Amino acid sequence: MADEIDQYLLRVEQAEQEIDQLKKELEILQDPKKLKASGVVSPAVEKLQTENAKLNYQLNHLKRFLTEERSKRPAGAVSIQRALEDVFRLAITSAFPDLDNPPVLLTPSAKMADYQCNSAMSLAQLVGNATGKKMNPREAAQAVLDKLPETEFIDKVEVAGPGFINVYISKSFVAKEIETLLTQGVRPPALPCTKRVVIDFSSPNIAKEMHVGHLRSTIIGESISRLLEWVGHDVLRINHLGDWGTQFGMLIAHLTDTFPNYLTEKPPIADLQAFYKASKARFDSDEEFKKRAYQCVVKLQNYEETCYKAWKMIYDISMAEFNKVYERLEVKLVDRGESYYQERMQTLMKELTDKGLVEKDPEGRMVMFVPGFTVPLMMTKSDGGFTYDTSDMACIRQRLQEEKGDWLIYVVDSGQGTHLETIFEGARQLGWIDPAKHRVEHVGFGVVLGEDKKKFKTRSGDTVRLVELLDEGLKRAEAKLKEKERDKVLTPEEMQKAAEAVAYGCIKYADLAHNRTKDYVFSFDKMLDDRGNTAAYLLYALTRIRSIARLANVSQEQLRKAAETTPLDLSHPSEWKMAKCVLRFPDIVVRILDDLLMHSLCEYLYDLSSVFTEFYENCYCVEKDKQGKIVKVNMSRLLLCEAVASTISTAFRILGVKPVEKM
Ligand code: ARG
Repeated sequence: MADEIDQYLLRVEQAEQEIDQLKKELEILQDPKKLKASGVVSPAVEKLQTENAKLNYQLNHLKRFLTEERSKRPAGAVSIQRALEDVFRLAITSAFPDLDNPPVLLTPSAKMADYQCNSAMSLAQLVGNATGKKMNPREAAQAVLDKLPETEFIDKVEVAGPGFINVYISKSFVAKEIETLLTQGVRPPALPCTKRVVIDFSSPNIAKEMHVGHLRSTIIGESISRLLEWVGHDVLRINHLGDWGTQFGMLIAHLTDTFPNYLTEKPPIADLQAFYKASKARFDSDEEFKKRAYQCVVKLQNYEETCYKAWKMIYDISMAEFNKVYERLEVKLVDRGESYYQERMQTLMKELTDKGLVEKDPEGRMVMFVPGFTVPLMMTKSDGGFTYDTSDMACIRQRLQEEKGDWLIYVVDSGQGTHLETIFEGARQLGWIDPAKHRVEHVGFGVVLGEDKKKFKTRSGDTVRLVELLDEGLKRAEAKLKEKERDKVLTPEEMQKAAEAVAYGCIKYADLAHNRTKDYVFSFDKMLDDRGNTAAYLLYALTRIRSIARLANVSQEQLRKAAETTPLDLSHPSEWKMAKCVLRFPDIVVRILDDLLMHSLCEYLYDLSSVFTEFYENCYCVEKDKQGKIVKVNMSRLLLCEAVASTISTAFRILGVKPVEKM
């Protein structure tokens, strides 16, 4: 849209120039003396006049179109960083029109200024290389500043040091944005366009334990989905369950042996884990059983009725377990496992075979080689069965062609990086991915470690059950609340709610606050600590901020009204610092939309609450007399507190952390 608007602006400008030119000509022509002298006859004048009228009409039409288009632009919070990047890009390209793709380097400033443009050094270098003449970076910086357009958000710019450009943002602009935040709520930054996103996360395997790796995928995937939904994308969340592999042969064979009348009576399998272990033991030791298990897989994949029913039973038992975890964590997913792609896998194999895109390897497997990868995709095993590769190929095609996804996200442990890269490249080779249109990415994450820095396991060495993990979190959160004697002021129900919010909030937050690409040490003690960057700390911070207005006897309703009428005062340095910090939220969101690293949101929240603490120490919101009676309420400051609280609770919603009224 921005390009189109620029084009229209250009046309408007051209039309205006033409009209000016014509007006000049008309002036001459309408001057009777000059006319007489030149001997021009009236039809020419007439022609010019109609031409003029036409152009005027066109100009008005274009102007109207432009205003309409501008008003249609989605309104949203301004990301100052992005807006600055835009104006600096403009200034840099017009100051250095000969440079191809000049660097636009803009960062928040750590020192006095608010933002800093660091492009001048590279610009001077590039000009030097191109012309053979040395350029002083300060000169390059000045050249950029000379072309910088006026905007409402920049207060002051200056060249500093060897050629940095310091940018100070405008107080009135910040105040206006916060006033909008207070009256309209925290708005997401405007998107250039909305996308159809298909995100694959959680994705445990039926009949196996959902482990901490799946917990990471679940927490990260849910939070990314919430963020993308909040900014306005259309998000489809898929649970790509492992529900079609060879393990089902042995499970079904074992079920048939142990509960022969499973078709009429629901088999009492409470512990699917134990059931899985027992069938695996038989599979490994009993040849006859193994053979039957393989036959079951073939039957299942041909949808043979009894086998399919057995599969469904195991599926349901397993799913009921998974759903307990999803319910507690408030995670929503569409269940669509590997089995969903069975027919699509058949069609795909037929097409690939017809086109000669697969070949038989010495072991009799059908493989597809993908340029850049030494290990090919295994499309069928020697017995003709499909594999994890086959289902992922059919699946990516379904997401692109049937779901019409423009943005595919796979939240899967980093260990599966090569598998997914091969799948993506395979899809590119087959022409399913259009690099200009589609964004396809693996959102990888590291391993969960125990406090001993070894793989997260129970003391006996088993995988930790997620339900038990959540229970333990709950117990510890409850103990923590009791330690703070919250049980004396909260009703049992409130206690339960608070414990759940703290426990699940802390588990999610601890995961999200770490850079997902690194391994992460799971520690209840750390995540429940109410000092440091934890949900426990932030939950307390939020309830405390929210209580300021309440204790000043100012209701939410009064705050809302005040937001419409009270101008914000940002004259105290701590007020100004906090207001600017609130306005960094859209910057952070824009950045995460690019790198999908949720920890920057957590870091931001921690910063914001530290800046708040500083503000609260330096600025009275409420003044009391010696008897403790309120004598003055500073409404502008209460509104600033409210802006911080709304920002934190919006971020909480994105992170899946539930705020508690009372703590
Ligand atoms: N079920 C797999 C596992 O537990 C994860 C699936 C990820 N998604 C995908 N499309 N391959 O490792």
